[in-house]
Amino acid sequence: MPRLRLFFALVLSLVQIQSYRLPDLYVPTFYELDLNLPPEAFTNTSDTFQGRVSIQFLVTNATSFVALHAHHDFVQVQRVVFNDTEVLTGNYSVDNTTDILNVSLPVEIDSSVSYSLVIEYTGRLSTRDMYGLYKSYYLDANGTVRYLVTTQFEATYARRAFPCFDEPALKAVFGLSVTVPNELNVLFNTKQTSNVTNETTGLTSIVFNTTPLMPTYLLALVVSDFTCTSGASIGNTTYQVCSRNESAATRQLALDLGPQLLAALNNFTGYDYGVAMEKMDQVAIPDFAAGAMENWGLVTYRETAILWDINESSNRYRQRVATVIAHEFAHQWFGDLVTPKWWSEIFLNEGFATYFEFFTTHEVLPSWQLDKQFVIEELHAALLDDSLENAHALQSSCSTPAEISSKFSTISYSKGGSVLRMVEHVMQLQNFRTGLQNYLTTYQFSNTEPENLWDILNQNVVNSVSRLPANLTTVMENWTKSSGYPVLDVDWNGNQVTISQKRFLISGEVRSGDWYVPISYTVSSDLNKFHNTTPNAWLVPSSNLTITLPSNTEWIILNNHQTGFYRVNYGNNLWNRIRNALTGTNFDGITEINRAHIVDDLFNLARAGQVFYPAVLDTVSYLVNETSYFPWYSALSGFSFLLKRVGEESLLGQTISSNILRLMSALYDSVPISTLRDDDVIYTHTQTLALAWACKLGKADCVWDVKDLFSQYQSSGIKPNKNLRSVVYCNALRYSNNNRTDWEFLWNSYLNSTGLATEQITVLSALGCTRDVILLREYLNKTITDGSGIRPQDALSVFVSVYSGSPEGVDVAFEFLMGNYITIATKYAGFNSLGKLITGLAQTFTTQDQIARLRNFIMSNNLPEDFQVAAGQALEIAETNARWLQTYQNDLWNYYNLPASGSDRVNLSLLLLLGTAILVLSFYK
Ligand SMILES: *[C@@H]1O[C@H](CO)[C@@H](O)[C@H](O)[C@H]1NC(C)=O
Ligand SMILES: *[C@@H]1O[C@H](CO)[C@@H](O)[C@H](O)[C@H]1NC(C)=O
Ligand SMILES: *[C@@H]1O[C@H](CO)[C@@H](O)[C@H](O)[C@H]1NC(C)=O
Ligand SMILES: *[C@@H]1O[C@H](CO)[C@@H](O)[C@H](O)[C@H]1NC(C)=O
Ligand SMILES: *[C@@H]1O[C@H](CO)[C@@H](O)[C@H](O)[C@H]1NC(C)=O
Ligand SMILES: *[C@@H]1O[C@H](CO)[C@@H](O)[C@H](O)[C@H]1NC(C)=O
Ligand SMILES: *[C@@H]1O[C@H](CO)[C@@H](O)[C@H](O)[C@H]1NC(C)=O
Ligand SMILES: [Zn+2]
Repeated sequence: MPRLRLFFALVLSLVQIQSYRLPDLYVPTFYELDLNLPPEAFTNTSDTFQGRVSIQFLVTNATSFVALHAHHDFVQVQRVVFNDTEVLTGNYSVDNTTDILNVSLPVEIDSSVSYSLVIEYTGRLSTRDMYGLYKSYYLDANGTVRYLVTTQFEATYARRAFPCFDEPALKAVFGLSVTVPNELNVLFNTKQTSNVTNETTGLTSIVFNTTPLMPTYLLALVVSDFTCTSGASIGNTTYQVCSRNESAATRQLALDLGPQLLAALNNFTGYDYGVAMEKMDQVAIPDFAAGAMENWGLVTYRETAILWDINESSNRYRQRVATVIAHEFAHQWFGDLVTPKWWSEIFLNEGFATYFEFFTTHEVLPSWQLDKQFVIEELHAALLDDSLENAHALQSSCSTPAEISSKFSTISYSKGGSVLRMVEHVMQLQNFRTGLQNYLTTYQFSNTEPENLWDILNQNVVNSVSRLPANLTTVMENWTKSSGYPVLDVDWNGNQVTISQKRFLISGEVRSGDWYVPISYTVSSDLNKFHNTTPNAWLVPSSNLTITLPSNTEWIILNNHQTGFYRVNYGNNLWNRIRNALTGTNFDGITEINRAHIVDDLFNLARAGQVFYPAVLDTVSYLVNETSYFPWYSALSGFSFLLKRVGEESLLGQTISSNILRLMSALYDSVPISTLRDDDVIYTHTQTLALAWACKLGKADCVWDVKDLFSQYQSSGIKPNKNLRSVVYCNALRYSNNNRTDWEFLWNSYLNSTGLATEQITVLSALGCTRDVILLREYLNKTITDGSGIRPQDALSVFVSVYSGSPEGVDVAFEFLMGNYITIATKYAGFNSLGKLITGLAQTFTTQDQIARLRNFIMSNNLPEDFQVAAGQALEIAETNARWLQTYQNDLWNYYNLPASGSDRVNLSLLLLLGTAILVLSFYK
């Protein structure tokens, strides 16, 4: 839709004429913040508080005005005092688009001395979304509503709580004093200095130690009636986990793992956390927009990301708690101690946090194989997102709050982490680590750009090992400044292979590529297969690479353990040889991660038209002997796309489904539902994956088993095993004979399980599996009905569970969205949830009718601007998918020997790997 897109571009560029950036003139050094949260703020009667901030700052040039941030809707300035004496009346104004507070000064000031500005204001707590200083609540054991006040300042929300220079490079020292009702638990980044309780007024005033030099977005405050449990100290760092008292027993996992993870990071970075910060508090917040937030010394989490019940919560959540803690702890160095200069460089935060999320946890808990899980969960997801034409580069400019938000993407997190992992393997771990240690000490309490990182790492490259074709800064330039990544074509000729590159686009369009690509490889005769991940050679821009092979070579496979961020296309001859190897004894030594790499590449190369589908399906039929989790995870993602496109209930869909079930049979038998191994994380991941797919595709004994477990739960009250619950709940509803009775049974169990968030979200994600459209409509209506029991933070999960649960759900969800988009925009929490809804939903469309209705909807409604952009993208996705079907359907028909027929109306869809859908939703950390 080129016309529509042109229009959007115009609108956006007009808006951007205003500057959202502060002039490069002010250097704040110290903030003294005073907050007064009255007792009414902890009820539903008032959202108001009083604030006063005193800011000391320098200027770099003479000026007669000060520009800082304050959000007009949350901060009402009452009084501004310059330099402690001059009251400025009417000499300030807030721009309600850019959030910039302009203060005119009575005199021109210059760069020789420090000035101060005191701003007194009335603040408003947010109750609608979970940004700024906001109110959350929970029901205590007696069913009484308890309110708490907490913060989420990243990226641009500190300005909602107090006037400040709200940019990451403007680091300062912060002091805080707060006055709150007596008896509340008040946590800030640092420890208390003192507190004074007045029994007459019922108010306590607390003063905190000043913070280290830090940016505004990392400040945090939690005022609640929570209790805390202390864990082991790490050196001189005290450690505690806090949550509503009823959930105290579920803090244990975080109490055990947190200190180990922090100690592992202390060790890896060589920089003791205790040097900069005196404590580490972890707090579970009942309503939370992101997954967790790395506030320095006071990390906040969704309850599902920190509280875990050994009897009731699955291993998926055990892994989530461990990895989210590691992610947030890694930020204490990468983000808190050393901060990107601007949000355009946010991958320096999120890429490192994603990298350590997996690899630090792997160090502490090696049996979970997170080094391998990284490849299928992060790297493959990044390769998919980064194959879209409009993917943003790791470094790309942004200035409005909406643009900044959109940088918190799979690219920044997963591609960021994958590219850093590639650098680690190019340099080798020890050199990488030494380089990072230098980086942290060089830039502590300061800000960086990627060049600063590459320069320091470059000093630690041992070139005899890495064989760098240029310095690291040059090598990394295209990986970070351009979007996309290469696909390597490997051309076999005699005893040589020639390797060339182009950009990989999922649309199939061909673009040139000029990356510096590290090449590691294994040939069939190598004894030490796939072990060495440092590059054997480099492919450099504008030239090919030729490798001479030993004479007895059967095959060559590039990219050992997929440490490089690219795909490989081998050409027919070599693909055939690889297929033979995969069917050989022990897969001819091809490791499970390289098997997952091959499977993921094949499905995506076919989707982009670079490999013929029949060849892909022939090759992946080796899976009949495959029982490893990793290649199966990739294979089922690939098959999922096919089923979504052709519709699971079409003849073709049914044929593909029975093909999958046939290939899965060894996998399924390797993880029987009756054999539980709760202590083996990879086993339970495999079991959940196999059961979810087998049941979804209608395997009779799977369906029978889960229905049996569900009726046992109904009759005895004994819940299924914690790791089986998502599969049992979902499929019991999907194949129910008593839709309403079973659905309401589970809905009531949701209402009654307020004590445990992991159980609640497991049930919510399963309730969309029913195929009863009336129930599905009622369910979606609950997300926009006050008091229904569904929290705004969970509304999106409900919507996803409906459209991904069944073909019927797609139409119900679409109808609901069209009918209620204005209400949804205000009720669904989180940034641009409408946009996420419609692009997610559109991926499941399969009929021209759905596409036509979407087009109509966009044309005939006056949609909000953000939503219009997303809706345009959604339409593009749906149209691309429809084209895919036209292009490839015949290949599939032929492959499966089906009678070619235009009348098999493709109208249904299948969705995401169960179990992982909910995790995908809240990955921003
Ligand atoms: C500071 O003042 C100097 C001299 O007037 C001028 O050249 C420079 O551009 C100014 N810098 C800023 C950031 O305004
Ligand atoms: C503001 O205060 C600083 C020191 O506190 C002083 O040096 C400076 O002259 C004052 N500036 C004005 C314009 O009053
Ligand atoms: C923003 O400011 C403009 C001009 O001062 C005003 O007309 C408009 O109503 C304001 N919008 C809001 C949401 O306050
Ligand atoms: C619940 O109510 C009982 C009786 O009024 C009281 O003793 C108990 O402290 C209450 N529990 C909570 C968590 O408020
Ligand atoms: C006040 O300080 C005392 C002594 O340090 C401490 O026990 C108490 O918990 C503090 N009160 C609050 C409300 O933080
Ligand atoms: C408590 O507050 C009251 C009312 O503001 C005041 O009169 C009294 O002096 C305070 N008491 C203490 C111990 O500060
Ligand atoms: C904690 O230990 C670090 C070094 O291990 C030290 O630099 C820091 O000063 C200590 N902090 C406190 C509060 O003792
Ligand atoms: Zn993060």
